[in-house]
Amino acid sequence: MINATAPGKIILFGEHAVVYARPAIAVPVFHVRAQATIEPRADARVVIVARDLAREYALDDAPADDPLAAIIRATCARLNVAPQNFCIAIHSTIPLASGLGSGAAVSVAIVRALAKFFGVTLSEVEVSALAYETEKLHHGTPSGIDNTVIAFEQPVYFVRGQPIETFRVARPFTLAIADTGVAAPTKIAVGDVRRAWEADRARCESLFDQIGALARDARAALERGAVDALGDLMNANQVLLRAIGVSSPEIETLVGAALRAGARGAKLSGAGRGGNVIALADAVTQDEVERALLDAGARRVIVTRVA
Ligand code: PMV
Repeated sequence: MINATAPGKIILFGEHAVVYARPAIAVPVFHVRAQATIEPRADARVVIVARDLAREYALDDAPADDPLAAIIRATCARLNVAPQNFCIAIHSTIPLASGLGSGAAVSVAIVRALAKFFGVTLSEVEVSALAYETEKLHHGTPSGIDNTVIAFEQPVYFVRGQPIETFRVARPFTLAIADTGVAAPTKIAVGDVRRAWEADRARCESLFDQIGALARDARAALERGAVDALGDLMNANQVLLRAIGVSSPEIETLVGAALRAGARGAKLSGAGRGGNVIALADAVTQDEVERALLDAGARRVIVTRVA
């Protein structure tokens, strides 16, 4: 039996502007993981078991746009092997459709498991590129940040179309990741931003420039361990995301609650409109921030250390 996993992820800075070639920063979230398990089968079929959805089906019966089937087919093609004689089971603790990268993590876990099963070594770049193909089924025109940070399992400074840059966080910090409970399809928010950009390019380009500048400053702050500066940068990014139109009353409620409870900064993370809010906490404030987020209506709070 072969087993492989991939972590979740969270975007710290630069969502939406990243689609327009500005830099963004994302980090892996190791508290949650997707897992793929492969066992050989005596017959020729490939059977897919989607444990969390309680679904089991044959690869041959899956439609072309089934994301699990698509990544299995693409990976087998890359590995130069016929997709046959195995059962692949998927299980994930990453919440769906909330900006934690569940789709990309499932894809990366599948690619890694298949590569192991067939005894081929793939680079992180190759793993990421395969997962990106499937991201397109989920999002339409994804920037590629999710598959990159998840395949590399390190903080990334991501600029669309440019070579991948990973970097080190000089001083670990604590994030509370709070789920608004509102499922937010990335495609819709990205489409709305596109329409806003088409209606007033100068305004949106200026907002994207300002967001890009924050992402650059944030990388420098993270690399020199200036955790204190991060909070202000997060708050400034949230103001700009609000101006772009991707915040929501639920997001604002959680952001306000976290700040009142002592978080140094708070912002939406990912596509917005729902999904997650991230708040910068520390050893002193983390319990208070977590409680305040839950009291303010967060469906779930993951407190994680970013190192
Ligand atoms: O909601 P998520 O984590 O899938 O992130 C979406 C991030 C966007 O910048 C809005 C879109 C993208 O493709 O990068």
